[in-house]
Amino acid sequence: MNQHEQSVTLRPDADGIDEAARLLADGGLVAFPTETVYGLGADARNDEAVAGIYAAKGRPSFNPLIIHVDSVKAAEKYCQFTPEARRLAQAFWPGAMTLVLPLRAESGISKLVTAGLDTVAVRVPDHPVGRALLKAFGAPVAAPSANPSGRISPTAAAHVMGGLAGRIAAVVDGGACEVGLESTIIGCAGAPVLMRAGGLPVEAVEACLGYPLQTEEDPHAPKSPGQLLSHYAPRGRVRLNVTLPEAGEILLGFGDVEGAALNLSPSGDLTEAAASLFAALHRLDDEGAERIAVSPIPDHGLGRAINDRLRRAAAPRGD
Ligand code: TXA
Ligand code: MG
Repeated sequence: MNQHEQSVTLRPDADGIDEAARLLADGGLVAFPTETVYGLGADARNDEAVAGIYAAKGRPSFNPLIIHVDSVKAAEKYCQFTPEARRLAQAFWPGAMTLVLPLRAESGISKLVTAGLDTVAVRVPDHPVGRALLKAFGAPVAAPSANPSGRISPTAAAHVMGGLAGRIAAVVDGGACEVGLESTIIGCAGAPVLMRAGGLPVEAVEACLGYPLQTEEDPHAPKSPGQLLSHYAPRGRVRLNVTLPEAGEILLGFGDVEGAALNLSPSGDLTEAAASLFAALHRLDDEGAERIAVSPIPDHGLGRAINDRLRRAAAPRGD
């Protein structure tokens, strides 16, 4: 029997982490907690293991992966840092920021990780369990969010199992993710460019650099191939910026609104809303919600990333 037919939940203690590191070394797929979302990890140097990530998620293989390491020093082994990249890494790692940097020759990173690009996305996550696993494994771990491609990202081990049980070796249960949105991605091969708004507010990145960031909407900026329009999708239809829900719609509220089935943050706090967004969408999915209306959310700070994810959840799709 294939080991992946039985996915186990591991405890976040020394034994669980040792077992997770052993499974990774064996070429297995192990989901693990980070402060943003759970990642679906594989040994980034092992082609077969990385291919397993694409298969388990049903992910298009032109969509490259982030490698996770436990220190800036480890990241420097695999990629070349510009002075801006070094400044950002020192300010925000460990944390909810990914840098896309030129890949070093002889990096040993599987070409399936970078989808053949000459850059690689890298991050030092800030979660005690995720970092303990990276340390125990001692090599870079390629990890996209641990959800079937196109569906809602997981912020709890149960979400991971709900989408991927039977397709992965294990998940390390480290509780709920504190940030709750994927990392902010900054392209740093040349002049810094925002590739994906995420768990680190863009304003913080700009304050560190001392100038505004170009965004990937800029025609001259490179595209992050993973920015597919329909993404993060619950099964139900999603309508945004709703102040007056229609009959039959379930209201996902923000702030002081009436009649919300769930509220991302009754006090209107964007950090709280970010942390509860994916769990709320998972819950509405589990409850079979067919039409979801979402209250308006301010488009600054973490609100920018929340609105990005909600627009993708609301985008027309084929299914
Ligand atoms: O918070 C996060 O970033 C989580 C946790 C697990 O670290 N990971 C995550 O990975 O969200 P994923 O695979 O769902 O998103 C990674 C994004 C994709 O949009 C991908 O296209 C982009 O990073 N990416 C990866 N490598 C790239 C590269 N070399 N150039 C441009 N974009 C890249
Ligand atoms: Mg993802």
